[in-house]
Amino acid sequence: MKTVTLPGGETVPALGQGTWYMGERRDAAEQEADALRLGIDLRMTLIDTAEMYASGGAERVVARAVAGQRDRVFIVSKVLPSNASRCGTVAACERSLRRLATDRIDLYLLHWMGGYPLSETLAGFADLQKAGKIRYWGVSNLDTDEMADLAAEPGGGACAANQVLYHVASRGIEFDLLPWCGKRGMPVMAYSPLGHDVRRVLGAKSIRAVAGRHGATPAQVALAWTMRSGQVISIPKAANPAHVRDNAGAAALTLTAADLAEIDAEHRPPSAKRPLDIL
Ligand SMILES: NC(=O)c1ccc[n+]([C@@H]2O[C@H](COP(=O)([O-])OP(=O)(O)OC[C@H]3O[C@@H](n4cnc5c(N)ncnc54)[C@H](OP(=O)(O)O)[C@@H]3O)[C@@H](O)[C@H]2O)c1
Repeated sequence: MKTVTLPGGETVPALGQGTWYMGERRDAAEQEADALRLGIDLRMTLIDTAEMYASGGAERVVARAVAGQRDRVFIVSKVLPSNASRCGTVAACERSLRRLATDRIDLYLLHWMGGYPLSETLAGFADLQKAGKIRYWGVSNLDTDEMADLAAEPGGGACAANQVLYHVASRGIEFDLLPWCGKRGMPVMAYSPLGHDVRRVLGAKSIRAVAGRHGATPAQVALAWTMRSGQVISIPKAANPAHVRDNAGAAALTLTAADLAEIDAEHRPPSAKRPLDIL
């Protein structure tokens, strides 16, 4: 498995698993947990979830998947901005811990910027860290100017990751956000790495051509592309076991300079600042 190093020196898998839209239906929960377990067995041991997903239902699916093997898994969850006051962050995390049936979240993120000042949320994260309920904290959907504001807050330099939309057809972060995080040794987590609605990314001509040359699938190429810098953790969501197996294969694929040039010709890298894309 390719790995990415967190600012504190710990390494985590570069390829994990998302859970958005899991936990929506009771009758699908066991099958979804099975898919996550399969992914864990295939070394995609980082799982991304959030209190928002299925109003806590996705966290309950994660609890089923990691039962009996909690220590193998690095769990990422997120607090909603509407809960992100100092006390609200602590209370939201405690609810997440109960749903996840665990005593700690490995990385706890602010899902996006809301009305509470960052200082409030950071105070909540500090309380949670002191109590051993979270190991690291980070943010999601913050653009470069917001990351600079965060870094200027007392304790803001300890941010462990920023989770943002990143796939071949949405690569504006390469202009400034990715280098900004890179300079600080801060990983970026690529959400929707297959594009969420996968047709655009998996149907791209260059992705299909590169896949053909490697005897790989378009999904493997799209995921390997997101991970190519060594700074990005990619978190595709797959409830279908065939998709899980397919995605796991991306960890073994390294794209060549010619592959990357072909993808660039179809999906140009940014030449100017673009506002952060958000799903
Ligand atoms: N922080 C944020 O604001 C934010 C926003 C969006 C997402 N996220 C996180 O990022 C994760 C991934 O993003 P996402 O779920 O939006 O989109 P995604 O991972 O880009 O795409 C998910 C879709 O791709 C399908 N799929 C998975 N593997 C495939 C394969 N090998 N071949 C063909 N189709 C495949 C899935 O189908 P099946 O499920 O049927 O297998 C599902 O329909 C989320 O689940 C969530 O954890 C975070």
